[in-house]
Amino acid sequence: MKKLAEMLPGKVSTEPEDLLCYGFDASGLQAAPAAVVWAQSAEDVAKILGFAYSNNIPVIPRGAGSGMTGGSVPSKGAVVLSLERMNKILEIDRENMSVLVEPGVINGNLQRELQRHKLFYPPDPASMDFCTIGGNVAENSGGPRAVKYGVTRDYVMGLEAVLPDGRIINTGVKTAKGVVGYDLTRLLVGSEGTLAVVTKVRLRVLPLPEAVITLLALFDDTARAGAAVGKILTNGIIPRALEFLDRGTIHAVENYKPVGFPKDTEALLLIELDGRPQTIAKEAERISEIIRNLRGEVTMAEDEAAGEKLCEARRAVSPALYHLKPTKINEDIAVPRSRIPEMLMTLNRLSEETGITIVNFGHAGDGNIHVNIMADRNNKEEYDRAQNLVKEIFRATLELGGTLSGEHGVGLTKAAYISMEIPPAELDLMKRIKGVFDPKNILNPGKIFP
Ligand code: MLT
Ligand code: ZN
Repeated sequence: MKKLAEMLPGKVSTEPEDLLCYGFDASGLQAAPAAVVWAQSAEDVAKILGFAYSNNIPVIPRGAGSGMTGGSVPSKGAVVLSLERMNKILEIDRENMSVLVEPGVINGNLQRELQRHKLFYPPDPASMDFCTIGGNVAENSGGPRAVKYGVTRDYVMGLEAVLPDGRIINTGVKTAKGVVGYDLTRLLVGSEGTLAVVTKVRLRVLPLPEAVITLLALFDDTARAGAAVGKILTNGIIPRALEFLDRGTIHAVENYKPVGFPKDTEALLLIELDGRPQTIAKEAERISEIIRNLRGEVTMAEDEAAGEKLCEARRAVSPALYHLKPTKINEDIAVPRSRIPEMLMTLNRLSEETGITIVNFGHAGDGNIHVNIMADRNNKEEYDRAQNLVKEIFRATLELGGTLSGEHGVGLTKAAYISMEIPPAELDLMKRIKGVFDPKNILNPGKIFP
């Protein structure tokens, strides 16, 4: 590490407090790295990887450490490569509707800067006020707006990235279209920092929607909330967010960051519409009718600021849940939208059978349910019971035609389960792709594959 510190003066630390702070992410997993390095340019990243490659040192790329599956948790002897100092918005190209950013740019900061230019970058992970674009690219992050606008991958036009041996590559195009060669950009997006380290990101942006309307729908029955989700979409309306919170989640939020969600509600839908004022006003009317027909209660936020408050409360769900129990095993399964009610019934049954509290919320419009198994890591018996539930939940998800992860990725926490979903031939192809990019397995080893 001394040599690395000499190569990058002022950018390497082995201080215990840094090793502690850079040793965990939002998964709750933790391990101490051998050093932390803060890159400030692609050349720094190339130097670090070149050195690590020659010396067989594992490198763990890291944005804000807000990932939920241990993607940036170090392995033994590893160097954590923090991209947080590479945080410049390099170019806003209005004419070609794209932006060029460094990986350490905070998602929310980009959103706010673009708004000043009447532009819009839709992907909005709940952690948007602290997660980085680089982390979003590594995880292919989604968020509530994915139901209408898609996820990070749908916006990445091209990347500058550094290969594990230190070579700098450029992928993708600056044009609206491009089909020359294999699509390395789409391959790198969502590769969880296992193939290359991203140092620049070109993103497609959209015009800022003229107006936003937020609706709150309350149901005393979960099945009817599920039916409302299906009815809204089959009526040809695509809200920009269609979020679901169950009773447990509503209680947790109200106890943590009260916004007035009634606590006697069984299920709540938070619905956002965006577009031209007249169009979305009509859509809001139609949605209200659908909700009332399903015996739900509906209210409209009085203005955009009030709507944003509700969305903020939604974004606070994750921290709020820690007030129920010290540990949450946070899964992010997705099922075909029409199967949500069945999935929720299974989750209720599993909770009743095991006595373990399961709290559910998530992106109902995408069939993406955040299943939070609440336990206490220090109570071994309870924690084991909670852990055992994970496989049951995954089995039920796959039986319904779902996937183990809608947006948080595999990382460390789901690596042991990947073969439940991915068959041997496909898994073998994936591992061989990893081998082509990273023959020495130095980049984020142990992630995705068991
Ligand atoms: C969310 O939608 O709030 C995030 O994906 C985080 C979480 O699942 O807790
Ligand atoms: Zn989510």
